Amino acid sequence: MATKEFPLRPEQIERVETKYRRIRTPIPVPESVPLLEKLRELEPRSMGGQPPVIWHHGEGATIGDRYGNRWIDFSSGVLVTSVGHNHPEVMKAIRGMADQGLYHAYCFPTEIRLQLIEELSIWLPAPLKRVFLLTTGSEATECCLKLARTWGLKAGGPAKRVFVSFENAFHGRTMGAQLAGGAAALKNWLSETDEFVQVPFPDGFRQPDTSFAVFEKSLAAKGVDPEHVCGVMSETYQGCNATIMPPAYAQALRRWCDRYKALMIFDEVQAGFGRTGAPFGFSHLGVVPDLAACGKGIAGGMPLSAVLGAEELMGMYGPGEMTSTHSANTICCAAALANLRAIRHERLIDNVVRLAPILAEGVRRIVKAARGRIGHHDAIGLVGCVQFTRPGTTAPDPDPAWEMVLRAVQRGVMLFAPVGVGGCAIKINPPLVIDEEALREGLEVLEQVAATV
Ligand SMILES: Cc1ncc(COP(=O)(O)O)c(C=O)c1O
Repeated sequence: MATKEFPLRPEQIERVETKYRRIRTPIPVPESVPLLEKLRELEPRSMGGQPPVIWHHGEGATIGDRYGNRWIDFSSGVLVTSVGHNHPEVMKAIRGMADQGLYHAYCFPTEIRLQLIEELSIWLPAPLKRVFLLTTGSEATECCLKLARTWGLKAGGPAKRVFVSFENAFHGRTMGAQLAGGAAALKNWLSETDEFVQVPFPDGFRQPDTSFAVFEKSLAAKGVDPEHVCGVMSETYQGCNATIMPPAYAQALRRWCDRYKALMIFDEVQAGFGRTGAPFGFSHLGVVPDLAACGKGIAGGMPLSAVLGAEELMGMYGPGEMTSTHSANTICCAAALANLRAIRHERLIDNVVRLAPILAEGVRRIVKAARGRIGHHDAIGLVGCVQFTRPGTTAPDPDPAWEMVLRAVQRGVMLFAPVGVGGCAIKINPPLVIDEEALREGLEVLEQVAATV
């Protein structure tokens, strides 16, 4: 949630030259400022919250600009390039498909679509058997919403239409996704509706009581009859931090959904395909949802998303009733297939498991260096988060978070703008291919920066 802009005034930076980082110009680069200004002039202001660096190329866990600067990438785009930038197999697949000749096959089957779905079936636990390919994460979460509402109609009639999600959740920017989202600040453009209800996420910070009793009490307090709930959707770890749902909570939620015939839906758009050190975020929780929405890291940097679902749910719409024009774009499918194979063949999930304690330790060091300015931190797999808060409170403190991002970028570690409640959270999520040396170097930079903001 970018609520600010980074200044476009070039700052002279001490030269950085290591194996992974190179900063040899002021940042922003003076020659790039007119281009950045032009973007700010022509795009909506909402696009202005991005760090003032014009990306030009990438390689594994580093990215570069055309002015000779190079960064360790702790953003993975925005948790997209799990196999690293410019992965040779993904590139080969994209080129191969393009060389076959570009065609568009929305209304027609393709072999590459089948190959990708077969690959996905290797990843999927029962009963998630059916795969519906889409383009963006929001499209996937919206589709889950539609399926839950359709299921509600079927299982309980028109009254079974309440969709439950979690405070501070993020499911995308389209209308249904934002109604299900849990950030009040993003919903000013929407009118009140009792069909979407949010309950506290058991993060142990803004909601200290992580027991499932809170879920039931919150619904009761909002006057929701559990029989009227058609679905419950949550990220497995919340994207505004890196806090995973406690397994006991997830298991109680699974039982609750079964009892009230509500669909259990996990939004795996960020967590899916290895980010947390397991195939899916829910792999840590001892449950399998009825539906999962995937995106981001599924396709190595190309726009592709997927809804994974149980047979009964994915059969509710008849031929031609649930489709999307760019569904299964052949080049995106080829990239996704190569990406998922690379994650398996290169054993990237093992790399995540091996590096996770190093990231967690680095996050703790950053917290220490920030001298009480960071109120909450967390890490799972290769995603970590620190939240700047006013000392001794949970109130967000965005200014030091923004300063930390800018200082890190100026010293050769790429982060995206702060996210989360009040824009106070810095996410650390390098590509899953990062090596230990680069990870340690980037974390050390962040520790040094945290000591100065
Ligand atoms: C957890 C989660 N769900 C859904 C989305 C929406 O995905 P997209 O931006 O591809 O529509 C995002 C994007 O940040 C996300 O993090």
